[in-house]
Amino acid sequence: MSGSLIIAVVAAAVISWIAYILSSLIKREENPDPGPNRREPLSDEVLETKRLDRWLAAAVVFSGFLAISLPLYFLTEQNRQESFVHAFEEEAVERGHHLITEFACESCHGPGFVGGAASYVEKRSDISVTWAAPALDDIFYRYETDEVRFWLVYGRANSPMPPWGLAGNGPMNDQQIDDIIAYLASIQISQDEALAKADTGVTVSLNRRANASASVEQSVAAQELLIGEIESAPSLLSIVESYLDRARSALDGAAEGRDTDADGISDAAETAIAAATLEAAEAGLAFGGSAISPVLLDPGNPESSFGVTDRQAARTAVSSLNSLATNIRTTAENQDQLLVRAQAGLDFLLDAQAMELWMVDEESLAAATFDGSIEDAERAVGLFDAYCARCHTAGYSAGVAYTKEPGSGSLGPALWNGRAGVQFLSADDMVDFIANGSELGKPYGINGQGRGYMPGFGQVLTQKDLELIVDYLRGETLRGF
Ligand code: HEC
Ligand code: HEC
Repeated sequence: MSGSLIIAVVAAAVISWIAYILSSLIKREENPDPGPNRREPLSDEVLETKRLDRWLAAAVVFSGFLAISLPLYFLTEQNRQESFVHAFEEEAVERGHHLITEFACESCHGPGFVGGAASYVEKRSDISVTWAAPALDDIFYRYETDEVRFWLVYGRANSPMPPWGLAGNGPMNDQQIDDIIAYLASIQISQDEALAKADTGVTVSLNRRANASASVEQSVAAQELLIGEIESAPSLLSIVESYLDRARSALDGAAEGRDTDADGISDAAETAIAAATLEAAEAGLAFGGSAISPVLLDPGNPESSFGVTDRQAARTAVSSLNSLATNIRTTAENQDQLLVRAQAGLDFLLDAQAMELWMVDEESLAAATFDGSIEDAERAVGLFDAYCARCHTAGYSAGVAYTKEPGSGSLGPALWNGRAGVQFLSADDMVDFIANGSELGKPYGINGQGRGYMPGFGQVLTQKDLELIVDYLRGETLRGF
């Protein structure tokens, strides 16, 4: 706005200057100048009063102009730069948005980055699990920008999080990583909302504990089902192949014979394919989560199911029987190997079920550490599970059945067996460290060397909650005495 004002003032000045020169030229013609050396000199009186006053007045006006226009220019220049930076950021956010869509970050981190899960083979058990992926809508309350960049570029080995930067052998250049960071920064929730997550987090993790046995039972049942499928693969294969042969030979001969609805599939073929899929469905043929469903084929109607021609439907029916057969065949061919692995997985789960390593005796914890307050003990355990366990308790992200003792260590060091007291002389030092997290190259505690992997929790957890966690970690129960 005042940029154009300044331009207008300058333009007016230039125009009046030109006008002045022109008018003096005209005057000179009317009244030719005798030349400077022959002009009547001005008297001292004129020079020191009228003329001096005029110049002084001009100087005051000009200083006034500067005094007003310079700050105006300075102010608008700052706005101009800010709006430039702003526009630039908006573009980066927009590009970041394209990238996160293209690379489907939300398929793991949840729509809106509220947290989600990804499928992953758990390394100890060799079982395919759903691995928790953290929320990223509050990540800048926990990490510095460079630390977020590190995870983006290198991913997180031994987890489903892939590397995205070129340096980590990922697909994105520095600019693209920066754009993603700009996008993530633009979707951060308010700090109040981030703090409010604590109560939800505690509830969710306490529910996980409450349903732990049922959840492990489910994992055991699923593994038993898998073993059953592997064992049944060879006999199932011959059954599925017989349906497949029936349907396929009917399709192969579909061009011959009576074709009432003239759709290119003979009446006999339509009846045979429909019957094969119906019988297969009724026999409950299913494997690895996919099943055969009956296909409707009416020899008197070229489009028995709306929107799909009978020709297409017949082909789809044959190809789904075929892919079911292929899956079963692959399993049957590798049956021995697969059975050994699946059985080892089952043994792992049964051990887990027997040992209940995820358990915390809240009553003894309350008595030993929290002056008998079960409420404090539960909250401490819930907070640790919600905020720390994914990096400090082995197997936590894979699910209850895979969870080892609290604080047994995974990406982050083990925190049990008195480690908290060894690394930090006082509870206060430890609270400070957890509030701020680690920094690359910066020492912490008695002999810690930070890498910046440990997030800071001072902006998302209250001092009281941090103290509860620290009491839990420094208390007898986790110390393994
Ligand atoms: C295949 C699933 C998957 C995809 C795709 C994925 N992530 Fe991740 N990401 C994860 C998991 C799982 C973790 C946590 C790993 C762990 O357990 O330590 C994670 C961790 C992170 C972290 C560290 C968060 C923290 O609090 O420790 C960031 C940042 C991140 N992902 C960003 C992204 C971005 C941005 C994209 C898309 C370009 C993306 N992720 C795509 C699964 C995924
Ligand atoms: C994203 C993974 C991650 C999360 C989540 C995490 N930490 Fe850590 N933590 C680490 C890593 C990694 C280190 C080692 C320092 C480093 O590498 O910078 C560490 C170090 C520590 C240490 C020092 C241990 C030692 O003996 O040197 C303590 C104590 C600690 N974390 C407590 C916590 C608590 C409490 C929480 C939850 C409020 C938590 N951490 C959440 C990864 C994590």
